[in-house]
Amino acid sequence: MSDRTLAPLGRRLCPVVAHARHGAYHVVSVLDEGPAPDAGQFYMLATSERWGGGVDERPFLPRAFSVLRRHEDGTLDFLLEDVGPGTRRLCELRAGDGLWLLGPLGRGFRAPEDDRRPLLVGGGVGIAPLAIWQDVLSDGRVLLGFRDAAHAEGAALLSDARVATDDGSVGFHGLVTELLREEVDDSCTVYACGPPPMLEAVRALCEAEDVPAQLALESGMACGYGACFGCVVPTRDGYVRLCVDGPVLAASDLEAVA
Ligand SMILES: Cc1cc2nc3c(=O)[nH]c(=O)nc-3n(C[C@H](O)[C@H](O)[C@H](O)COP(=O)(O)OP(=O)(O)OC[C@H]3O[C@@H](n4cnc5c(N)ncnc54)[C@H](O)[C@@H]3O)c2cc1C
Ligand code: FES
Repeated sequence: MSDRTLAPLGRRLCPVVAHARHGAYHVVSVLDEGPAPDAGQFYMLATSERWGGGVDERPFLPRAFSVLRRHEDGTLDFLLEDVGPGTRRLCELRAGDGLWLLGPLGRGFRAPEDDRRPLLVGGGVGIAPLAIWQDVLSDGRVLLGFRDAAHAEGAALLSDARVATDDGSVGFHGLVTELLREEVDDSCTVYACGPPPMLEAVRALCEAEDVPAQLALESGMACGYGACFGCVVPTRDGYVRLCVDGPVLAASDLEAVA
C-alpha cells in the first residue's frame, strides 16, 4: 500500500475554473482540495448537471481520466477528446460549472532506476499523463504522435517534444514508434501512454532491446476503485484490476497489450 496515494472516500464537488481548446483537444481545469496526485494516476469524473437521466440515461457512469497537470494552488487540468456522450458533456464544461471528482486513483509512474534516462512516448490523448510526469522529472526526451495537425496542437502542452503525425502535416511523417526506434538505447527507461497498438509496438520494441518500460494502459472502468472487476487485464501472473494495480504496469509483466 505504501506506493499508493489514498484517495478520500467519496467523490467531491469541485468548481471548474477554466476551459481551453488545444486544436482537437479540450483542457478543463478544476480547483481541487484533495491530495496531490502522482503522475500517471487518474480520476473518475462526472458533471454535476445533465449527467444521466433523459431519454437514454447516458452517460450515467463516471468516466476515467488521467490528470494532465497539477498547479501549485491545487488546480487540476484534464485533457479531453470528445469520443462519446461522457466526453462530449465534459467538453461542454465552462468556468463556474460543477464537476464531481473521485481520486487520485491507481498507481502511477515509478522513477527510473540506476540513473537511467527517461524517454517519454505518447500517442493522441495519451499524452496527458506524460505532461505531469515531465513536470516531475528534471530531464528526459519526449516523443509524441498524432493523427494530424489539429491533434498535434496538443504537443504544446509538453516541452520540447519531437512530433510525428500519421498524415505528415506536422513533424515527422509516420508513427511515433519509428522515432522511438531511432532514439531508444540501453541507457533509457521508456514511459508510454497511447492507443493499444502503439503500446504493443512500444512493449515489443523495448522487449527486443532489453529496455525497461512502464505503460499507462486503459480499459473500461465502471467504479475506479476495485469493486466491479470491469477493468481486468491479463498479465504474465494472471488478471489484475487496472484501476488499483495500474493504470501504469511494467511492460515486462505483459505478454502483449491487447
Ligand atoms: C485510466 C484511464 C485514463 C484515461 N485518461 C483519459 C484522458 O486523459 N483523456 C481522455 O480523453 N480519455 C481518457 N481516458 C478514456 C476515457 O475514459 C474514455 O474516452 C471515456 O470513458 C469515453 O466515454 P464516452 O462516454 O465519451 O464514450 P463511450 O461511448 O463510452 O466510448 C466512446 C468510444 O471510446 C471507446 N472507449 C470508451 N472508454 C474507453 C477506454 N477506457 N479505453 C479505450 N476505449 C474506450 C468505446 O469503445 C467507444 O468506441 C482514460 C481512460 C482510462 C481507463
Ligand atoms: S473499475 Fe471497477 S474494479 Fe476496476
